[in-house]
Amino acid sequence: MEKDFVFDLLEQEKTRQREGLELIPSENYVSSEVLAAMGSVFTNKYSEGYPSFEGLADWSEAKIAEQVLSNYRYYGGQKNVDRMERLAIARAMKLFKADHANVQPHSGANANEAVYFAWLKPGDKVLAMNLGHGGHLTHGSPVTRSASIYDFIAYGTTAEGDIDYDEMEQLALKEDVQLILVGYSAFMKLPDFKRVAEIRTMAEKKWGHEILLMADMAHVAGLIAGGAHPNPLEYGFNVMTTTTHKTLRGPRGGIILSMGRVASPLKKPEKTLQNIPILIDRAVFPGTQGGPLEHVIAAKAVAFGEALKPEFKTYAEKIIENAKALAAALSEHGFALQGGGTENHLILAKVQESFGISGKFYEAALDAVGLTLNANSLPGDKGGAFRPGGVRLGTPAITTRGLGVKEMAQIADWMKRVAEICVKAGDSEDLTAHEVELDTIRAEVTALAVRFPVPGI
Ligand SMILES: Cc1ncc(COP(=O)(O)O)c(C=O)c1O
Repeated sequence: MEKDFVFDLLEQEKTRQREGLELIPSENYVSSEVLAAMGSVFTNKYSEGYPSFEGLADWSEAKIAEQVLSNYRYYGGQKNVDRMERLAIARAMKLFKADHANVQPHSGANANEAVYFAWLKPGDKVLAMNLGHGGHLTHGSPVTRSASIYDFIAYGTTAEGDIDYDEMEQLALKEDVQLILVGYSAFMKLPDFKRVAEIRTMAEKKWGHEILLMADMAHVAGLIAGGAHPNPLEYGFNVMTTTTHKTLRGPRGGIILSMGRVASPLKKPEKTLQNIPILIDRAVFPGTQGGPLEHVIAAKAVAFGEALKPEFKTYAEKIIENAKALAAALSEHGFALQGGGTENHLILAKVQESFGISGKFYEAALDAVGLTLNANSLPGDKGGAFRPGGVRLGTPAITTRGLGVKEMAQIADWMKRVAEICVKAGDSEDLTAHEVELDTIRAEVTALAVRFPVPGI
């Protein structure tokens, strides 16, 4: 039989990953075990519904793996899937100190949609971070379905790059909001969750109803799991959504952690914050999704097991150590950084301001040498989403490969050299005359990259 082209492309992708360095802060390299669970026969199984925990007195992993319990599923043949999904749920709850975990969302976007659906009515107001200041598309961008259903009101960041808590407070007291959301995909500070919880209390008093406090920690969930970042659920937040594939280093997907009463999803509960875990289960299935991807849930379970190990704590600390070292080295090379640096895994470099080059052009030039990152708009960016003045980069993936502070200085040096080449190319943005210089850097990047194996390849 002829070989499918897909497998040729898979080999080419392995080479690209091996020979380059992944600086996109929302990407990572999963372990062979996570890959094996994802590429498994759990994909063959339909499992609409949920496993039940009823009758489970002993939550030890051995007991969860051994004990066959009842479920709320629509098909037979679930005894293995149930126990596996239960393990994923129990591990996620332990990792984030949550009362409940729903591990079925297909992605971060689905997780957010489900929370909105669980709590909001069409037309309800949501307070979330301005997309141009680091918020995410799913937090109210007009191109999304949720923005056509709910009324999103945006708070921004300060000149120093922190959340503008005063603005958040003013807006929460001016607008009758039902949900306050802290979450972002380009923000470098540690959020003050306590202050946000206080703002919620003030707004609840003013409006006379409960307000859902939600955190979308898609970017920093791995740092939270590793104890290197505050956990919003420990500061009075009701819900935390996250992707599982970024700093958390699992398969592509989403999960929803929540605090409150856990009970059967079959009976519709009253809409209260205490009932949010049940409302969320119903909002994921059948509210917004069909059959769960059990092979991905198996891979989530494996990744959560890895994140519960002491080594993951060291990994989370190293991500931040590397990001701080990379930010410092870039600053020394003349890169202006949004917020002046970073407190997490992520850096936003203002390349238009520093070198007069667009983020998109710089992204393409770095791609040519095997350094992958993405162009990103900055607060007040005149270039918009397609010609932004910044680039976003981060350290989760390269830290997984074992790169350390010494290599961060080397990466900053390559980035400076590529910026200088872009400056020479000028407005033409034509790199043809600089191919030899770029090839030299590319060879240096590859020589370093291959010394640090990609897990799972
Ligand atoms: C903060 C935040 N929320 C949600 C998402 C959406 O995740 P997904 O791409 O898995 O739908 C992202 C992804 O970039 C994100 O950064």
